[in-house]
Amino acid sequence: MTLTQTVTRVAHHVTAAPTAGARRLRASAGEALRWRLGMYDDLRLPPFPADGFTHLGMRARPYREADAAWRLALENSPGMELWENGDRPRTTLDEYADLLRWTRRRIERERGPYVLLLEDAATGIPVGDLSIWRVREHYRTAEFAVALDPGSRAHGNGVVAARLAMRWLFGTGEIGRVEITHSVENPAACYGSKRVGMAVETIIPDAYAVRTRSGEERRDAGCLHSILRDDFEAGEAERLAARRRAPSAATS
Ligand SMILES: CC(C)(COP(=O)(O)OP(=O)(O)OC[C@H]1O[C@@H](n2cnc3c(N)ncnc32)[C@H](O)[C@@H]1OP(=O)(O)O)[C@@H](O)C(=O)NCCC(=O)NCCS
Repeated sequence: MTLTQTVTRVAHHVTAAPTAGARRLRASAGEALRWRLGMYDDLRLPPFPADGFTHLGMRARPYREADAAWRLALENSPGMELWENGDRPRTTLDEYADLLRWTRRRIERERGPYVLLLEDAATGIPVGDLSIWRVREHYRTAEFAVALDPGSRAHGNGVVAARLAMRWLFGTGEIGRVEITHSVENPAACYGSKRVGMAVETIIPDAYAVRTRSGEERRDAGCLHSILRDDFEAGEAERLAARRRAPSAATS
């Protein structure tokens, strides 16, 4: 075979019939290049603070190896089908290890989404999950979702988690608007969002994928709430003033 024939043959294999491995390699090289060229800059969150962030006795911090059992139990707890757009809950330590690698890469290199563990700042006991991401093509906008473990629900922790997330996001100066979207079948998320000053902006038909307990997928309408930085800060100032007037109402 001549040199020209060899080159033609290799080129044919590389370009015309790449193997699955070559296709994956090409896709991930393309993806890395797109990040490097700044094509995803509008998906980047403010840099993550090394120790996480804390407010009202709750801390958001990166996941660790030791959180595996807690996290797997959370994902498989009742009520979580309303949380994460139809994903199957993880069940194995290997799946948790993949998640851990992914969350670390997102925090350290790609700056979003941030998938964080919420814990009691004093005791370190896990309370829930906080996931935060940028909303693409919405100027300076971020969205977040909270998932509490069943023992921490219905005690006002959802409201504290939302205030923690917004205080950090707005405090960075990079974010001017924050959104939450939940299924219309999730009254606790709706009432909790309104409690932190996030008005219902619109109902989006068919926008929220839910995986039912039996494993089927269902599409619910999504209920979109939002708040602007000035309105959040005015609400926080008002809450502070109310607390000074009535010192016993510690976190209301
Ligand atoms: C949604 C979730 C974060 C809410 O947090 P929470 O701390 O458990 O919320 P609460 O039960 O304290 O409810 C928040 C507010 O809504 C009110 N509320 C809840 N359900 C209600 C209902 N059916 N009708 C009227 N009010 C309701 C509560 O009374 C509370 O108001 P208050 O603070 O004035 O007392 C939590 O239930 C959770 O993690 N669920 C599973 C995952 C999920 O669905 N996440 C949201 C996806 S975006």
